Amino acid sequence: MILPARGPAGGGPSPPTSEPFLAALAIASESLTVRALDDIFDAAGVLLVSREHELPVAVQQRLARRHLARPMEACIGIDGGVTALDIEAAAVAMCQGSAFLALLVGADLARLQALLRSMWLSPFASLVLSVQRAVKAETFEHAVLCAMLAGTLALRDKRSAVSPESAVHAGLLHDVGEMYLNPDKPGHGSGMDTDRWVEMAQHPEVGARLIEQFTEGPSEVWRAVHEHHERLDGSGYPRGLGGDAMSPLGRLLSLVEAVCGILRAPDNQGRRVKLAVSFVAGEFDPHLVSIMLAPIGASLAAKVALPASFDEAAALERARSIRQCLDVASHHLDHVTPASLTVDKMDGVVAFARRHVARLALSWAATGIDTYFAFNRCLSSSPGEDEASYLDLEVASRELKWRMRSLARHVGLMLRNLPPPIPDTLMAAMAALDRDSSPPVQ
Ligand SMILES: [Fe+2]
Ligand SMILES: [Fe+2]
Repeated sequence: MILPARGPAGGGPSPPTSEPFLAALAIASESLTVRALDDIFDAAGVLLVSREHELPVAVQQRLARRHLARPMEACIGIDGGVTALDIEAAAVAMCQGSAFLALLVGADLARLQALLRSMWLSPFASLVLSVQRAVKAETFEHAVLCAMLAGTLALRDKRSAVSPESAVHAGLLHDVGEMYLNPDKPGHGSGMDTDRWVEMAQHPEVGARLIEQFTEGPSEVWRAVHEHHERLDGSGYPRGLGGDAMSPLGRLLSLVEAVCGILRAPDNQGRRVKLAVSFVAGEFDPHLVSIMLAPIGASLAAKVALPASFDEAAALERARSIRQCLDVASHHLDHVTPASLTVDKMDGVVAFARRHVARLALSWAATGIDTYFAFNRCLSSSPGEDEASYLDLEVASRELKWRMRSLARHVGLMLRNLPPPIPDTLMAAMAALDRDSSPPVQ
C-alpha cells in the first residue's frame, strides 16, 4: 500500500497512484469513461495529457508509472459520475426499501433530502464514489447509508456544533481508505494474519490523508474519518483515542459506522441497534445514542420474531465458541512473563490488551446471557418461547466478536511500532481474539 503524501502542496512530485485504486479504476473503466479534468503534467512540467481527453486503461496505467506534478486522482473524473442528486436518490430509495430506516430518519427526511441535494460534491468524492458504485455496489450503498445517518443525527442534534454538510461528507467518504488496500488479500472476517490486521487498521488514516489532500472541505471531515473506528473509552483503533481527544464529528461518525454495520442484519433491527450500542458501557456518546434511538423507542416493545432459518443450537454453539476464544486470550495474557518483556514499552501493550480483554469479559457477563441459558432456559416449555433471548444471544455474540477483532487490530498496530521479540503468549492471545473457535487451553 502507498500512503499519499500529507498536504496538498506536497513539496515535490506526487507519489504513484496506489495499485488497488488503479485496479478498481480499470474495472470501472469497462463501463464508464474516465477523462482528464485538467491538463496533466509530469514532475518536470511536460504536458502528458490535455484537459478533456479520455483516459483509457492503458493511458491510466502509463500515467500511474510516471511521477506527476499532481496526483492522478486530482486531475481525473468520470463522465456521468456520481452527483449530489444521485446520492439523494439513493438515500430516498433506501428509506423506501426499509421500514426501519424510514423510522430512523423519520420526519427529517425532507430536510435530509434538501441537504443532500444542495451539497457540493468535490471532484475527488465524485470520482471515488463512482468507482465504488461501478465496482462494488454494496460499498457505495454503505457510504450513502452512513451519510444519511450522519446527516440526520447532525440535523437533529441541537447541542452540537457539527455541520450537517460535514457530517454527510464524512459519511460518504469514511471508508475511502479501503480502496487503497490490497483487494487480493482476504477482507474483513476471520483468519487475517497480523500483517493484514495492521493493513486494514490503516484505512481510517489513509482515508483521512486522501480527503485532506484531494478535497477542500473543512478539516473536521478528514479528522472524523481518521476517528471513525475510535471509541470514546479508548478501545478503538487506529490510535486508541478517547474522551475529549475525539472530535464531535468523530464521535458522531463512530456511532453511525457501528449502527450501519448492525443494519446489515435484516430483522429486529431496533432491538439489535439498541443492544449493540450499549453492549460495552462508555464506547459511544450517550447524548448521540439517545438522539439515534429516540425515533425507534416505541418499536422496541414489539414482539421479537426470529427468521425461520434461525438455528438456536448453532447460535448457542457460536456464543460458546466466541466466549471460549476470549477465555483463551485472557489465559495467554495472564501467562506473559516479565522475563519475556525485553522490549521497551511492550509491557504497556500487554497491559492494554489485558485491560480490554477483561472489560469485554465483564461486558459479556453484564448481559446475563450465560446465567439465563445455564439456568432459566431449561424451564422454557417451547423452543419458540424465548426468541428475544436468542436474539440477544446472537447480537451479543456478534458484538463481542467484533470487539475482539478490533482489539487484535489495535494491538497489531501498537506492535508495529516496537522491535522484536514479541512474546509468544501475546501473539497467541491476539490469534485467539481473531478466531471464531479455539481449542481449550490445557
Ligand atoms: Fe464503514
Ligand atoms: Fe471503516
